[in-house]
Amino acid sequence: MSKKLWGGRFTQPTDKFVEEFTASIDFDQRMYRYDIQGSIAHATMLGRQNIITEQEAEQICAGLSEILDEIEAGQFEFSLALEDIHMNIEARLIEKIGSVGGKLHTGRSRNDQVALDIRLYLRDEIDSIAVWLEQLQRALVQQAQDNLDTVMPGFTHLQTAQPVLFAHHMLAYYQMFLRDAGRLADCRKRMNQLPLGAGALAGTTFPIDREWVAETLGFDGVTRNSLDTVSDRDFAIEFCAFAATLMMHLSRLSEELVLWSSAEFDFIELSDAFCTGSSIMPQKKNPDVPELVRGKSGRVYGNLVSLLTLMKSLPLAYNKDMQEDKEPLFDTIDTVKGSLKIFADMIAEMTVKADNLRHAAAHGFSTATDVADYCVTKGIPFRDAHEIVGKTVRYCIENGKSIDELTVEEFQQFSPAIEDDIHDFVTLEASVNARSATGGTARSAVAAEVVRALQELD
Ligand code: ARG
Repeated sequence: MSKKLWGGRFTQPTDKFVEEFTASIDFDQRMYRYDIQGSIAHATMLGRQNIITEQEAEQICAGLSEILDEIEAGQFEFSLALEDIHMNIEARLIEKIGSVGGKLHTGRSRNDQVALDIRLYLRDEIDSIAVWLEQLQRALVQQAQDNLDTVMPGFTHLQTAQPVLFAHHMLAYYQMFLRDAGRLADCRKRMNQLPLGAGALAGTTFPIDREWVAETLGFDGVTRNSLDTVSDRDFAIEFCAFAATLMMHLSRLSEELVLWSSAEFDFIELSDAFCTGSSIMPQKKNPDVPELVRGKSGRVYGNLVSLLTLMKSLPLAYNKDMQEDKEPLFDTIDTVKGSLKIFADMIAEMTVKADNLRHAAAHGFSTATDVADYCVTKGIPFRDAHEIVGKTVRYCIENGKSIDELTVEEFQQFSPAIEDDIHDFVTLEASVNARSATGGTARSAVAAEVVRALQELD
């Protein structure tokens, strides 16, 4: 079974360790379904074009279907000596149906075959990743919808800045993931061109019908240059760039969840299902899942850099270096899928501690800017207003008061321009709702964004 398919020109067997070192079967076997799908389309086309007979094509397709069943039933023996998934399947086909199996590889090379397999495989994975990404977006929008009246401190420099709605904070992440979804869709679109027909590098002498194969396999068209086709891994790089950006966003959200679930913030509680305990400290409930996702961003960035480095300086066309594309790509797919799946569920089940969030906003002088803006409406230049409110905050700190607890007389120590109506401006709700332009944190603006998001997700 493990007789080399390219043995003709060789007189000595391959060194055992070289065989092991150069083989990709351990990791590329995960593409088996796509390899068979592509081969069936190719063989059918060869039959339609009378390059082989219809009957030969049927025999080949039947054999390939049986091989698919064997693999799925766990009855297929993968051989290291046969190097990769392509030759494992082809050798088995010849073993099963005899020499007619040797006609499958007519007008084709492993170079365009592997380019096809990766695209078919990645396309399917992209589609399932898109669904998980959407699930996460839905969970964020649901949390936003449930927290349209939850006020929290908004931060800059991790210092309390201005009050915002918790819903607004959730929708900030919704926007990041919306852009990620757009990047993923772009990648899929650009990738969806049939590479088969490029042959080893120069095309093929046989009268193949690439357009028919493209349509059969769900591609939007065919690639336009055979040299480029067999040496292009841009689609894998683009996907990994999408993934790196997505993981960066997930890592930022992770960081906030870790902070927020600490006793010091106490803004949220993650469900027990997503946390673990400590083997020594009984009080602990650790946010392992967000920590791990934050950590996993590292390997996904690394995979992107691996692929970029792998491809730089490669001369046209195919080079064996390119076999190294698969492990970083596969690891990226696995990591992204796992992270999204777990985050979608974790966000959906997160408990938001609205009272604590409100308390933090109320006690962090988050409405100081509103007092300054109020002074401006009374004709005071903003720079002077800034100074007035700075002194007011210092007074609050020294006297253990929050801004909205100050009496008008107390305010007037710092500016006689401040009047009774100041109290209409310094509540958390007034501060939030004053920011009502599109993209602001006013309840009306955020509620409109929830509606918009739900439409986008439909
Ligand atoms: N296993 C190879 C890869 O992953 C398949 C293509 C091999 N082509 C070749 N000419 N050696 O890149």
